[in-house]
Amino acid sequence: MTASDEPPPGDLARAIDESDFAWSLVLVGEDQRDKLAALTSDLLGKPSTAGDGKQITSGYAYWGIGPTIAWAHACADPFYLVMKQSLDSFTRRWARVRGRIGEGFHHVSFGVGTGHKDRLVLEHLLDRNPAMLYLPVDMSSEMLRLGTREATHRVGLRGHRVVPVQLDFSITDNLDELRELVHRLVGDEPVLYSLLGNTMANFDRDGELLANLTALARPQDLFLLEVATTEALSDELAQDAVEEYARSRAYREFVTSALLHNTDLTIDVDAVQFRGAVEGDRALRVKVVYQNLTGADIPMMLPDRTRVPFPDQDTIRLYLTRKYARKALDVIVREAGMRKVTGTHSDFAAPRSVQGFGMDLLLLAPGDQPPEAKPVDDLARDIWAN
Ligand SMILES: C[S@@+](CC[C@H](N)C(=O)[O-])C[C@H]1O[C@@H](n2cnc3c(N)ncnc32)[C@H](O)[C@@H]1O
Repeated sequence: MTASDEPPPGDLARAIDESDFAWSLVLVGEDQRDKLAALTSDLLGKPSTAGDGKQITSGYAYWGIGPTIAWAHACADPFYLVMKQSLDSFTRRWARVRGRIGEGFHHVSFGVGTGHKDRLVLEHLLDRNPAMLYLPVDMSSEMLRLGTREATHRVGLRGHRVVPVQLDFSITDNLDELRELVHRLVGDEPVLYSLLGNTMANFDRDGELLANLTALARPQDLFLLEVATTEALSDELAQDAVEEYARSRAYREFVTSALLHNTDLTIDVDAVQFRGAVEGDRALRVKVVYQNLTGADIPMMLPDRTRVPFPDQDTIRLYLTRKYARKALDVIVREAGMRKVTGTHSDFAAPRSVQGFGMDLLLLAPGDQPPEAKPVDDLARDIWAN
């Protein structure tokens, strides 16, 4: 390197690009003490045997290095069918929708996870926009580090085109700030937003979350949504959905890892229970709870070192998930102010998996569905997808 090639003082982007060391820059959007206080207050809920009091809300389930590692393990567990199928079939489903995404897109990914899917998205977008910016957004800085590295490894995206953002995207004020940041960075160029891996299903007010996230999309932008789906709704199928999660020990270890790391409870993975129900005409819902089955009240220390009782039979809701009725998807999309550009469905093909359970990948755009008939190529794609 000649003296004139030396990065000028302060050229952080170039200094990182030219270093062999695995630096990663993260924009931290929130004071993490506030997050710890919110987690503490969620664990102070009233006693409930049904998972309606104390809880770990989405985001906190993945927050920190322990839950991040536990999530990566769960994703690799062949018994955790939803994630395995979601990862295995994503290449195929993505290949069917990506043709509808034009040139010049940037990418904002809500909830990066292990980064495997983002990698496929980046490879495609980067081919069509060498100046692409990638903004993975996640509450967990450790997940951002892990997922961003997987997503960008050998993809050819220069370090300074990657802007990980640590932010809780369930808070609307945060989304206002994110919108401003994204628009300042990309100007009028189009953005592909994504919410993959059935992440939407983890939120109590899932429809509201989707509407808030999709509200970032301008007319030139697109939104990629992946959800777990079911052809039908019944109590029996809700039990089948429960079985799917209950099978995986790695999944139980993941859902309890936030408790393990933020309280002094001695975790018994057999105290993890799965409660299935039909949620109106839109979804099968599975609540994952940790129940005190010891026959005695247990003192529990919270992250701020206060001690509270965890009474006998009381529960802590660890996780919430759903399988959406395929028929309800159009309404869910419309209520979020979006329309479907294209979509693909894949059935779970694994042995012992329930007929009618699968994953849908939808490419959405802002605005109403035009009243005219579906384009022929969409119809053909749907037929091949089934
Ligand atoms: C179910 S995983 C999906 C990961 C990945 N998109 C995939 O499909 O494999 C959910 C991801 O969203 C993140 N997440 C969940 N709730 C969040 C929130 N409220 N704010 C920011 N990130 C959140 C988690 O940390 C995790 O990385």
